[in-house]
Amino acid sequence: MFPSFPIERPRRLRRTEVLRDLVRETRLHPAELIYPVFVKPGRDRQDPIQSMPGIFQWSPDTLERHLTTAYQKGIKSFLLFGIPEHKDARGSEAYDPQGIIQVTLRRLRDALSDAVLIADLCLCEYTDHGHCGVLKGETVDNDVTLDLLAETAVRQAEAGASIVAPSDMMDGRVGAIRRALDQQGFQDIPIMSYAAKYASAFYGPFREAAENTPAFGDRRSYQMDPANRREALKEVFLDIEEGADLVIVKPALPYLDIVSDVKAAVKVPVAAYQVSGEYAMIEAAGRNGWIDRRRVVMETLTAIRRAGADMIITYFAPEVVDWIE
Ligand code: PBG
Repeated sequence: MFPSFPIERPRRLRRTEVLRDLVRETRLHPAELIYPVFVKPGRDRQDPIQSMPGIFQWSPDTLERHLTTAYQKGIKSFLLFGIPEHKDARGSEAYDPQGIIQVTLRRLRDALSDAVLIADLCLCEYTDHGHCGVLKGETVDNDVTLDLLAETAVRQAEAGASIVAPSDMMDGRVGAIRRALDQQGFQDIPIMSYAAKYASAFYGPFREAAENTPAFGDRRSYQMDPANRREALKEVFLDIEEGADLVIVKPALPYLDIVSDVKAAVKVPVAAYQVSGEYAMIEAAGRNGWIDRRRVVMETLTAIRRAGADMIITYFAPEVVDWIE
């Protein structure tokens, strides 16, 4: 009937913690975690974000202290989002050498010379309408936006970015950014593209954190439809062809099938982004005592790695280091 039993008894290898540890297939390591942070102009600021308890908007000085502590604990890669002083139709502060990200990059580069400083590259935090590019009527003008993204990438590299990470989802942006970086002598700066970025409701809390809610409409004319799976590979292949050195799948937990597909299909490192809404759900349930917060965090991160992510962008990064032996 069941000829394998009692010969096969999988429980044999689950008997003790040490044994389970020996046969564990997936482990987390601090080197694979990327910590996303929000910075805005000013001094001595640490403004809470209501929908992301425990996460703050920092000024450059407080951010430097915060990241120095994280770095000393073993988190050495950071993803930086800037909230500018002024927004306008063309998002000029994104590519202003004195813009908030450039100022912050120079400061962090001095303070943490070995840190991997990843500059998020998008116009949505910098435009007064909140869309990821320049508008033509009510839609984002793809090709005009490419020039501004390319210029932003160069300014970020000049200011000390280790990697630029375009998250706008314009067609052809990786190629445009690569060409601009190469022309300006930044051949060695890698591009980490948000290649499969879905138009997700899980970005909700981020809109408060980065102050980039679109003034009208939504991002569905440039971000991917959550219903599509094969299209993710198309996006990823295009970005790699154009020069992406690493690719991101985003969000993470609701898109593990995509993480798995992408990992199997490409030879570049794959990152997954556990986004603001994923963070907020765990925090909310955890704070209510409805879930064991720490176990759920570790389980989600382990699942994202198990699905194939080589690295994870997560707001839990500094806390998780303390939980990894
Ligand atoms: C925008 C950007 C977004 C996120 C990262 N970059 C929001 C969006 O596209 O609407 C979301 C990250 C998160 O939710 O944690 N360029």
